[in-house]
Amino acid sequence: MPVDTSILDGKGLAERIQLDLRDQITAWTAQGGRPPGLAVLMVGNNPASAAYVRHKERACAQVGIASYSQHFAEDVTFAELQEVIQRLNADARVDGILVQLPLPDPLDSTALLYEIHPDKDVDGLHPLNLGRLVRGERGLRSCTPAGVMRLLAAYDINLSGKQAVVVGRSILVGKPMALMLANANATVTLAHSHTQDLPALTRRADLLIAAVGRPQLITADWVKPGAVVIDVGISRQGDAANPGRLVGDVDFERVQPLTSWITPVPGGVGPMTVAMLLQNTVWSYSQRHKPSYNGEADS
Ligand code: GUN
Repeated sequence: MPVDTSILDGKGLAERIQLDLRDQITAWTAQGGRPPGLAVLMVGNNPASAAYVRHKERACAQVGIASYSQHFAEDVTFAELQEVIQRLNADARVDGILVQLPLPDPLDSTALLYEIHPDKDVDGLHPLNLGRLVRGERGLRSCTPAGVMRLLAAYDINLSGKQAVVVGRSILVGKPMALMLANANATVTLAHSHTQDLPALTRRADLLIAAVGRPQLITADWVKPGAVVIDVGISRQGDAANPGRLVGDVDFERVQPLTSWITPVPGGVGPMTVAMLLQNTVWSYSQRHKPSYNGEADS
């Protein structure tokens, strides 16, 4: 049954959010204030991580956030990273600290994330900020699920009482996503690699969020006609020598005609993640300086 389908334009919305942030930052710096500052810590040479970090730094430059990023060799020790984070925690120019994940073995990312001061944790991954999310309190939120919530809100997509299925239970996306949807009154199922008969479950979803990193896992027969489909996955087809196009976790061409709304890859969730990182940095700055800022960090 074909449904009248529309694209959720994350790229366009992210650009509008970034223009608003740029105007706000320009107004503060014109009054003599310092710009907000963000430190992205990257370890090793994972090409996907390097590309994400470049996007984040470019976006910072566009809106007027000062970058204090640092790149470390694969063999950097935990103690060295710990010391860098402690210095950034104490640095008054820095409002946000982000450790790009995944970290190479044997670095323990869970332990390292404890080192970031919760007020500078613009990734929303510190246990205190995750606890605030569980309790529905205001606080810094994980950027990708916050971006999904903002995108759904921008298109007035009603979540109350809807069946939402989140596929993937990562700490970066799936778990916080499920909590945000529950806080927005959706009925949430969190599916993962041990879920039995996943297609039967996803076929019941009014809102389907795919966040597993398995290219084109979700095919047309997994999707309920009229569903809203959000694709968080992003993988490159092909290999290192011949990198192909970017694809998501959803077989977009076949699934799109069934949906009422769907995000494209690229141009859907990815740009929203970056916009939420910048917004979190500006929110963190505003909490420190208390200038008038109307934005939020609590999707
Ligand atoms: N790796 C892929 N996405 C993200 C993200 O949003 N934050 C961090 N820290 N690492 C990532």
